[in-house]
Amino acid sequence: MSDAILETRQLTKEFKGFTAVSNVNLSVQRGSIHALIGPNGAGKTTCFNLLTKFLEPTTGTILFNGHDITRERPAQIARRGIIRSFQISAVFPHLTLLENVRLGLQRQLGTSFHFWKSEKSLDSLNDRALELLALVGLRELADEQTVNLPYGRKRALEIATTLAMEPELMLLDEPTQGMGHEDVQRVAELIKRVSAGRTILMVEHNMSVVSTIADTITVLQRGAVLAEGPYAQVSTNPQVMEAYMGTTDGQLQGAH
Ligand SMILES: Nc1ncnc2c1ncn2[C@@H]1O[C@H](COP(=O)(O)OP(=O)(O)OP(=O)(O)O)[C@@H](O)[C@H]1O
Ligand SMILES: [Mg+2]
Repeated sequence: MSDAILETRQLTKEFKGFTAVSNVNLSVQRGSIHALIGPNGAGKTTCFNLLTKFLEPTTGTILFNGHDITRERPAQIARRGIIRSFQISAVFPHLTLLENVRLGLQRQLGTSFHFWKSEKSLDSLNDRALELLALVGLRELADEQTVNLPYGRKRALEIATTLAMEPELMLLDEPTQGMGHEDVQRVAELIKRVSAGRTILMVEHNMSVVSTIADTITVLQRGAVLAEGPYAQVSTNPQVMEAYMGTTDGQLQGAH
């Protein structure tokens, strides 16, 4: 039985006659880690922009928990629980880690204004923020200014601020981009850990990350789905190898 949290049907985006995303049918299973991979320019980021409504699809449908969300605004999509982890610029460099996570929690609870009047609720906000920092391995740095963090830790903080918004579906665009080997491993483990009880859709170039944590992989090429399945299946698909390596006898490796 399939239990899709997110589905796209014939999702298409054209830019002045150029088709960046072409008739994409995605089905993301609830509770899974689903990776979107493909060579540079394949349409991965455009897909994400369509899912979060940063861009309007030219044609096609997006379903979330069975609801047609194709025409909804970005804020409505976020309220439904589709949260994208933003690039580093989204965390405030001169706030502490704790303050950044607390802001995420406040955004999540934004409408219940009176909540903030009670001292007790502020304490519980701190407790929850510390919990989230502990989850991403940053508990002991809670009072550090964000600007002082090394790059890999900033990306982990970004995951914590995203988690603060209680995502049901979390979208991560290249969470390990620009990281050294150790940070890559750490963030991969972190994603696996925080995936419990959630669904994660991620764009990722690093094949060791994808092969370790992704349940399902969709390969895009020139805007269209080239292959889909678990890593073992996708990585031995001759068309996929050719798309990545320009050869059919190479091992599937990172695009970068
Ligand atoms: N706003 C835009 N206007 C015109 N063309 C665009 C626009 N955004 C993206 N494209 C084009 O659409 C194609 C897909 O781009 P996209 O950024 O989605 O690729 P990607 O798979 O994320 O690549 P990368 O791995 O390099 O991040 C590219 O050819 C790109 O030049
Ligand atoms: Mg991209």
